[in-house]
Amino acid sequence: MSAGMKRVSVSDLQRMRDKNQRITMITAYDYPSAKLADEAGVPVILVGDSLGMVVLGYESTVPVTVEDMIHHGSAVVRGSERAHVVVDMPFGSYQAGWKDALRNAARIMQETGCSSVKLEGGQRSAGIVKRLVEAGIPVMGHVGLTPQSVNAMGGYKIQGRTPRDAVRILNDAKALEEAGAYSIVLEVVPAIVAWRITERLSVPTIGIGAGPYCSGQVQVFHDMLGLDPDMDPRHARRFIEGGELVRNAITEYREAVEDGSFPTPAESFFLDAARRQHIEATLARHAREAALPPVRAEASDGGQTPDSAHEGVDAEVAMLEEDEVV
Ligand code: KIV
Repeated sequence: MSAGMKRVSVSDLQRMRDKNQRITMITAYDYPSAKLADEAGVPVILVGDSLGMVVLGYESTVPVTVEDMIHHGSAVVRGSERAHVVVDMPFGSYQAGWKDALRNAARIMQETGCSSVKLEGGQRSAGIVKRLVEAGIPVMGHVGLTPQSVNAMGGYKIQGRTPRDAVRILNDAKALEEAGAYSIVLEVVPAIVAWRITERLSVPTIGIGAGPYCSGQVQVFHDMLGLDPDMDPRHARRFIEGGELVRNAITEYREAVEDGSFPTPAESFFLDAARRQHIEATLARHAREAALPPVRAEASDGGQTPDSAHEGVDAEVAMLEEDEVV
């Protein structure tokens, strides 16, 4: 982080909620996506365990490990300067008890340099949240659809559709707030349920598929950029058809390689004639000594030799004076 640059803190987020300023959160899993999100002014970046599905290609978030989260989390911290970076505690890293949870949360905080951790589950996780908070680790909670429990829930289904289930989720959120969670994600619950929970909590709620009445919203980076055409959840808005743009660009690149229009002289490194001849002579001598075929073999594109490839280049292209490439 550059000197003097302060990251968004949990108190900043609480202030935003108290002033009715909506909070934007986005997931990021690597250095460039974190840099883009940070430059766009997003106050909270979540290194979600959704990375298991989005970037590692697993069927669910269940196989994601603490090591995965540390690997991606530290890249995101390096890529951002201002955002509050929350790292998910993956499946199995906190359910066995508070000691295990504390050890893993401390590792994630120390080894990534992140600002806080997030874990799933309401009343069942509240005791663990309390211990982590007492140990000085800020914790974001996560209720409603909790993807780590996909096997128990029987799929990715909307939660809180019956009065009993809505009350259960409200009690989950309340339990997390009482345990000291600084914010709570509400995932895929009816808007009315998210609204009433948001009204009854004093900490910010961050919704995904939870309607417009939360204190903030979170979106998965690849969903909102349309990077994966096979991922199109109802609650995600594609702000750009990124997959199509990127695929078209890669196709153009392949075509340019195949038709020889990439790279141009301006995208290559040339030497002045004296240095070139010196290198040519050295390579020729080396080939003779090693009994290799001559370097100046005919090129396959109709006889273009290294010399003819240089014709006109010296005049057009600034010669390489420095070793710097970028
Ligand atoms: O892992 C994740 O990306 C999440 C968000 C969907 C909230 O937990």
